[in-house]
This record gives sequence, structure tokens and C-alpha cells, in this order.
Amino acid sequence: MSLAEIRRPTNRRERYRFMALAASKPFAVGAILVPLLLPVVGYLSGNYRAMFTVHLFLGAFWFGTAVLGAVVLGPVMGSLSEEANAEFAEGFVPRMNLLMEPVSVGVVGSGIGLADMMGLWASPTPSLWAALALAVALLVLGFGPLHTFTAGMFDEIAAEDTDHERLASLNKKYGMLSMVELLLMIAIVATMSGLRWGF
Ligand code: HEM
Repeated sequence: MSLAEIRRPTNRRERYRFMALAASKPFAVGAILVPLLLPVVGYLSGNYRAMFTVHLFLGAFWFGTAVLGAVVLGPVMGSLSEEANAEFAEGFVPRMNLLMEPVSVGVVGSGIGLADMMGLWASPTPSLWAALALAVALLVLGFGPLHTFTAGMFDEIAAEDTDHERLASLNKKYGMLSMVELLLMIAIVATMSGLRWGF
């Protein structure tokens, strides 16, 4: 990693400090604040159209990134040489690490808030329950194993003595689980269609 201060993190706090340095501080601040604040602003506006737009924007972003990651970037990264892979991951991993978890919370939070503003929780339809269950599964996947894999990837990239074998193995596991994530995302978008038509 190019920034002089960055090395293999020894604890969680150091890992996030190095990630923010690697991704640049303004990126880190924006990546965390924008997806978390937009749903709050949408909800407080009291205007469900504003909230709908926030939800659509964040949802489309998450879905698009999941498809791109699982179908294009993952396989491409897997086919690169060790050095090229590490170099690509250096720019990619810290930014994705900082951005995607807030985006996932923002999508689920804006969805729950939107359903509230539309009065849907008064008598939830099967689609709404299904969306909620799938959202919980997606968050568990994202904050659990996917997070562990990407944190491990960051540690290897930040280290002077990158363990390329571990990096490749984490990459592979991440690629497989991102396929599961993609399936859950497709299912949740199907429930969105169900919500739209009142099912
Ligand atoms: C990956 C997660 C999600 C994505 C990509 C997503 C995407 C979308 C999209 C594209 C729409 C517009 C289609 C439509 O009008 O129905 C929508 C609407 C909606 N979403 Fe989501 N959503 C997600 C999660 C959630 C969750 C977890 C909830 C609530 C538990 C939720 C609640 C809603 C509601 C209430 C609408 C409006 C439905 C209507 O217009 O009748 N969403 N979502």
C-alpha cells in the first residue's frame, strides 16, 4: 500500500483508520454519512415521494453494485496475476468496505421508513414480511461473513508481507458468497414488485 503510515493492522480501530486513509478521508466521511443521512432526511421531510426517491436511489445503487461485483469484477479479479490482483484490490477493497455497509443499512432503513409512511405496517402483506426477512438475511451476510472476508483482504493488502495465498482464498470465498447475496437481492427486488401490486 502506497501511503507510508499504512501497515498490517493490529486491531479493529487501526484497521478502520488505515481504511479511511487508503480510501481518502473525504471519501470515508461521504461514504458513511450520505447513505445513512439520506433516509433520515427523507423520513423527517414527511413526504413519502421524497422517501421513495431516496429508497430507489440507494436500492438501485446496492443492486447494481451487487450485480457488477458478483458477475464482472469478481471473476475479473480472480483471473488476474497475484500482483495485479493485489494492486487492483488496493484501491477497491477499502472503498467498498467503507461504502457498502452504510448503503445496505440505508436501503433497509429507507424501505422500513417508506413502508411506515405508506401505512403498510398496519396490515403487512406477505411481500412486506418477505422483504423484511430477506433484508435481515442480507444484513447478516453483509455484516457477518462478507465483512470478515473483506476485512481480512484489507489486512493482507495493507501488510508489507502480503500473504497472497490467503488473499486469493478470501477472494474466492467472497466471490462465492457474493453469488448468494445476488440471489437474495433478486428475491428482494421481486418482493418490491409484489409490494407495488399489493401482494
Ligand atoms: C436490497 C434491498 C432493496 C431494494 C434493491 C429495493 C428496491 C426497491 C425498488 C426498485 C422499489 C420501486 C418499485 C415499487 O414501486 O415497488 C421499491 C419500493 C419499495 N420498497 Fe424496496 N428495496 C429494498 C428493500 C426494501 C425493504 C427491506 C423494505 C421494507 C421492509 C422495502 C420497502 C419498499 C416499499 C414500501 C416500496 C414502495 C412500494 C410501492 O410503491 O407500493 N424495500 N424498493
